[in-house]
This record gives sequence, C-alpha cells and structure tokens, in this order.
Amino acid sequence: MEFYDIDPKELDLQPLGIFATDGALLTPGTSESWNTMTIGWGSLGTLWRHPMATVYVRADRHTHAYMESSDRFTIAFLNERDAKKLEFCGTHSGRDTDKTTCGLTPMEVDDGAIAFEEAELIIACRKVYAHPLEPHHFTDTDLYEEIYGGGVSLHTVYRGIVEHVYVAASVLEEHEGECDDPDCADHAHHRDPDEAKEF
Ligand SMILES: Cc1cc2nc3c(=O)[nH]c(=O)nc-3n(C[C@H](O)[C@H](O)[C@H](O)COP(=O)(O)O)c2cc1C
Repeated sequence: MEFYDIDPKELDLQPLGIFATDGALLTPGTSESWNTMTIGWGSLGTLWRHPMATVYVRADRHTHAYMESSDRFTIAFLNERDAKKLEFCGTHSGRDTDKTTCGLTPMEVDDGAIAFEEAELIIACRKVYAHPLEPHHFTDTDLYEEIYGGGVSLHTVYRGIVEHVYVAASVLEEHEGECDDPDCADHAHHRDPDEAKEF
C-alpha cells in the first residue's frame, strides 16, 4: 500500500474527536511478535519539545506486556467502513485470538514497527515514557470511582514521540486539486507521487 510520510505539524485533525469517535488500533511489537488492540482513549499534542502521542492501556490487556517490552508502537486510524475490525480487536484478546482474522493485513513500517494496510492514517511512535496511573493522584474522586470503582485495573500511561505520520495515498487523492496556490505546502492538495512510500 502507498503512504505519504508527512510532517506531523501538517496533521489536520479534530483533537477531541479523533479518538473518541473513530477509535484506533494500538500496535506495539515487531514483525517477529506483536499485538494490536482497539483504543478509544488517547491524545496527540506537543510535549517536551516534541510531537507526542499519549495512550492508556489497562494492565490486564495482552497488549500491556508488549507496550512494556517494545521501544516502538503505532496508532492506526481506519476508515469508518472498517468499524467492525475495531470492534473485533476491542472485544477479543491476542492471548487466544489471531486478530488478523477480522481482515487486517499487517505491514512493517519504518524502524520495524507494525501497522496495517487498511489504515488511512498511521502515527508511528518511539516510546519515551511509561507510568501506571495511581488512585491518589486523582483530584476528582467521583471521576475515579466512575472509571475505576469496583476494582477494575488502572491504566498505564504511555507516551511516544511521533516519528512518522503516514497518510494513505487514497486519502490524499480525495483532496488533490482542491487548491491552486502554487506555494501551498499541504500534501493533501499537491501530492508528488515520487514521494509515496510502498510498505
Ligand atoms: C471502542 C473501544 C475502545 C477501547 N479503548 C481502550 C483503551 O483506550 N485502553 C484500554 O486499555 N482498552 C481499551 N479497549 C479495550 C481493549 O481493546 C480490549 O480489552 C481488547 O480486547 C484487548 O486486547 P488484548 O488482550 O489483545 O490486548 C477498548 C475497546 C473498545 C471496543
């Protein structure tokens, strides 16, 4: 599949909507051993002078062990027509299920991380921070009870520097020709086919 490796600053997303409405696949590991799961909680922003992705993984997920041992992870956003794939990967565990059976095609991106051919947008990260959430840090105990009451396991926070943002060529094609500014640097308007990467 063809993807464009764009500057993270060019990403044009709804910061509060991207995870909440779309969900995404979080994938740590390498082609030798990896796991993926659906995430609905996360954020993209700037931290420690870098473009940064933050995700939250409960300690009882199979993915958790992979997040602990991996240097890299990817976050892959799919087209809404692939909602069933997200549902599958969010309701089955890699402990006893091959998640590719829902129709996902794994591919290796730069630096050996794993993402999927079906993705429209891939955020490839290098892990730089991991820390388990702790109950006593909640300043709103009602929120703590709402989310973690009843003894469910807390999430671990993982942060990764965004090293690559890959946008599927098919997505950019939809926007091609929308702009006639010759100085415009937006890949969505002016693609150079020679810049596309084949994974
Ligand atoms: C829409 C959706 C969003 C989810 N978001 C998260 C999340 O942000 N963090 C998390 O730990 N689990 C989340 N889950 C649950 C995991 O995806 C689910 O438990 C999955 O089966 C874990 O797979 P694993 O055991 O192979 O890691 C979500 C599930 C769904 C359906």
